[in-house]
Amino acid sequence: MTEAVDDMRYLTFALAKGRLAYKTLELLEKIGITCEEMKDKDSRKLIFVNEALRLKFFLAKGSDVPTYVEYGAADIGVVGSDTILEENRRVYEVLDLGFGKCRMCVCGPASAKELLQHHELIRVASKYPKIAKDYFYNHKHQTVDIIKLNGSVELGPIVGLSDVIVDIVETGSTLHENGLAVLEEICPLSARMIVNQVSMKMEAQRIKELLQSLKENL
Ligand code: PRP
Repeated sequence: MTEAVDDMRYLTFALAKGRLAYKTLELLEKIGITCEEMKDKDSRKLIFVNEALRLKFFLAKGSDVPTYVEYGAADIGVVGSDTILEENRRVYEVLDLGFGKCRMCVCGPASAKELLQHHELIRVASKYPKIAKDYFYNHKHQTVDIIKLNGSVELGPIVGLSDVIVDIVETGSTLHENGLAVLEEICPLSARMIVNQVSMKMEAQRIKELLQSLKENL
């Protein structure tokens, strides 16, 4: 029997605020899911509701999206795969949305390239210490000192804090304008949809239909 809409539980989305959230809204619009008040880029509002479809959306800091989804505060999340790798939360990653494409790379001055060849103990600055550690320790078998930064990571090698950085490269212009280059590529990145493990069972039908429509429109 079809549930009356009023009794239907809200399906809640946590979106990484900023560009990814707007791209996600564009994609959702293609499958008939709209949230007009969320399109106002000047608004400071964080939570939005589509009553007719029993959907809620909230805008969270990207690095917190997997946390909301793991704890079930959101059923579904949209966030970059960099954050998913770094946060390592218990969630299902269900769909590559194909936008927000960039690369996780080891970057630095060209002169630092040889430091990556000889297993030297070097300093690596990154907003992504887990990804950096995994790459150097498990992939390259190079012992490094990892220094956590929270942004403008390109400063690391410029001011002498680190030899190299592990960071996201999209257009490459931040590196270029600061005299740095990609030295090694770690992995490609893009926006992904993640789902809470309990919601995947309890809301299986709605989530399956959503994923199916999204796949048809990617
Ligand atoms: C990201 C990343 C690079 C830059 C790469 O920084 O950390 O700095 O974008 O983009 P590009 O290759 O197109 O130049 P973000 O803008 O998120 O700011 P942040 O430095 O505060 O992390």
